[in-house]
Amino acid sequence: MQVIKYVFQPHGDERAQLVVFEEQKDIPFAIKRVYFMYDTAQGVVRGKHAHKNLEQILVCIHGSCKVLLDNGKERKIVPLEKPYEGLYVANDMWREMFDFAPGTVLMVFASEYYDETDYIRNYDEFLKFVEEKAK
Ligand code: TYD
Repeated sequence: MQVIKYVFQPHGDERAQLVVFEEQKDIPFAIKRVYFMYDTAQGVVRGKHAHKNLEQILVCIHGSCKVLLDNGKERKIVPLEKPYEGLYVANDMWREMFDFAPGTVLMVFASEYYDETDYIRNYDEFLKFVEEKAK
């Protein structure tokens, strides 16, 4: 499984670091939606779903977490620890976010508007979905 991690170049000087996300440039798709999670409780696992048609870039703009990626055949755990790195998550990829450090803010750039019918929240359904796609 190929893990695609983007490293955004911070524009830094003695005052601060500044990170920019422009669609079709830093982010490899047109951004229709941005959301973030904060106040994540200790020990929680978020995500636990895949999408039929949605690309995302996950950025821990504060703190850190780990992301489990599962394509139905292989699993990888990717740490997100820097505010200038982004993890690309394709549509047909089961994802779980966990191990949130206290105060973490996880920001997500998404290629589509929110659509509950695009979610696959059942793992067996996800396996069927990727098997069908591979045929
Ligand atoms: P959910 O997708 O389950 O969170 P996670 O990233 O952990 O999988 O979303 C949590 C709640 O927020 C759920 O009630 C749906 C709502 N929600 C929206 O209304 N719009 C959105 O863009 C997102 C991502 C979630």
